[in-house]
This record gives sequence, structure tokens and C-alpha cells, in this order.
Amino acid sequence: MRRVILDCDPGIDDALALMLAVSSPELEILGITTVSGNVPAKTGAANARKVLKHMERLDIPVYIGESVPLKVKYTDAMDTHGRDGLGESFLPEVSGEYPEKSGVEFLEETLERERTSIIALGPMTNLAKVFQKKPELIHQVEELVSMGGSFKSHGNCSPVAEYNYWCDPHGAAVCYDLFASAGKKIKMIGLDVTRKIVLTPNILEYILRLDKENGEFIRKITGFYMDFHWEYEGIVGCVINDPLAVAYFLDPSMCSGFDSFTAVETEGISRGQTVVDSMNFWRKEANSHILTETDEKKFMSFFLSRILKKEDGSRWKEEELSLLQKL
Ligand code: BDR
Ligand code: CA
Repeated sequence: MRRVILDCDPGIDDALALMLAVSSPELEILGITTVSGNVPAKTGAANARKVLKHMERLDIPVYIGESVPLKVKYTDAMDTHGRDGLGESFLPEVSGEYPEKSGVEFLEETLERERTSIIALGPMTNLAKVFQKKPELIHQVEELVSMGGSFKSHGNCSPVAEYNYWCDPHGAAVCYDLFASAGKKIKMIGLDVTRKIVLTPNILEYILRLDKENGEFIRKITGFYMDFHWEYEGIVGCVINDPLAVAYFLDPSMCSGFDSFTAVETEGISRGQTVVDSMNFWRKEANSHILTETDEKKFMSFFLSRILKKEDGSRWKEEELSLLQKL
């Protein structure tokens, strides 16, 4: 089992990523930390617990992380994810106290104690805080997969920037810079690959037929997101970025790419842009592995085989989901 912390901002696609992670027997999830991104960190934590309740995994602790980016003013993405962050599904709150430790304290204490992997699905504020204070803890990170940035694909909240890195550009820049100093690499699952992962109404209908309970849950939280995509991106369906980062962590053959030095711009019109030195102009040692290719069909059957259950409680097998190839 691989020990991992999920750092996230749920968020509709974060919710789907959490569903995938908690259904994956290879993972020992030490905790979930939230950060202000799509919604404020506190709302994100409440949403994480709603997902955990649905998945019957309330045993996983949720720590509330940083409420504002390192330097810039905080901008949420409720236009995309709804006022509650879960597509205005307004699922009932889950009662119970949060641990006293903050997200940053939990990350720091865990890394001090043991080597752990991190899957980052939101702005990198929590991670930047930890590594700024104790850069040596980077060597305790087994693997860091970050959903964010973009190599050649256009941005999703400015012409050049992806939301997570745009929201806290200094947080992302600090992480990439400190990983460079430590001689380590961040695995960047950016828009080049996540844009290919589209949950279409056809696939949703298929999900509902296979597993009504999970299907209804997914339908409730994604309707708003689909409307947003129709209005702003002109597509029928919605791009579900975050579960690809979890899928890649579980199975690295899910995406392919190349090593490179990457810097994150923090100011002006290119705020949050990932400047990927793919041609090695700067002759700097790589601090990132940039994923550029993925197989969306392979992802979808992997994802659904993990989260969907048959009536007898067993999971659907990938080979039983062959209809996906035609949807
Ligand atoms: C990323 O930004 C958020 O809106 C999503 O949850 C995802 O992590 C995509 O740009
Ligand atoms: Ca997210």
C-alpha cells in the first residue's frame, strides 16, 4: 500500500478524485487537507466529508488548510463549481469535529515522521507553506503529483493560465523552485492531458444504468458543471481534471510526457503560467515531469471500474465496461 495525502479544494472534480482514491485498495490515505481554491478551505473540508460520507469512508481525517494564497488576493471558482462547491447540490452537512491540527501542521508533522506521497488537486498554498519553512521535508516526499499548469494547451482562467496555479501563483512558484533546489521533480498533470477527460451526458447515463446510487450522486454534483462548460467552453459534458491525477498516481502508464525545467510566472498578464523549458534553453536540471499524452478511454474504464458497484456490492470489471469504447 502506498501512503498518500490528498491536498485538495473540493470542488466537483476533486470530489470525483476523492471517490477514486478512497475506492483504490493500493492507497493508504493518511489524511485529506483542504486549501482555499474552488471554495474556501472550510467549505472544501465540509465537501470532502460529504464525499467521504457517501463513500462510507469517514474514517479518513480531513484537515482544514490555508484560507488565502501566499501573496495575491483570494479568488474562488464558485462560478464553475457552484455556491457550495459541489454544483449547488446542497448535500446535507456531515456533523462532527475537525481535528485541531491545521492542514499545514498535518502535512509538516506527517512528512517529519515518514516518507509520504502527495497528490495536489488545488492551489499549492499548503505545500508552499510547509516547504518554505522546512525545505528539507521535500526529501521526505516520495512522489508529488500536481494537477495544475499547462504546457501547450490554452489556459482555463486566462489565455495562458490554469486555475490552480493562477489562484496562487506564488504558491506554485515556490514549490517548483524549491523542488529544483532539492533536485526533485513535480509530476505535472496539466490541461494538456486533463482537457481530454470529459464526462459526457452519454457516459453519465451509462453510469446511472450500472450503479444508480453512485450515478445519482455524480449526476447531482455535475449538472451545474456541465452547464458551465456549455456556456463558457462550448462543449456538452464537463472536463474532470482531478481524477486523472489520482489515476496517474495509481497507474503511471495512464499518461506520458517528458522531464523539463519549469518555472511559474507570478505577475501581470501571464500570472500562473507554467513556462516549460522543453527545448532546454536554460540548461537547468529538470524539476518537473510534464504529462502531455493520455488515453481517455483507458482512464474512463479504469475510473468507473473503481467507483461503480454492482447490486451485490462487487465492483464492475474493466472488461465489463466495453460499451465505453463506443460512447
Ligand atoms: C483545476 O481547477 C479547479 O477548478 C479544478 O478543481 C481543478 O483542480 C482545473 O483547472
Ligand atoms: Ca481541484
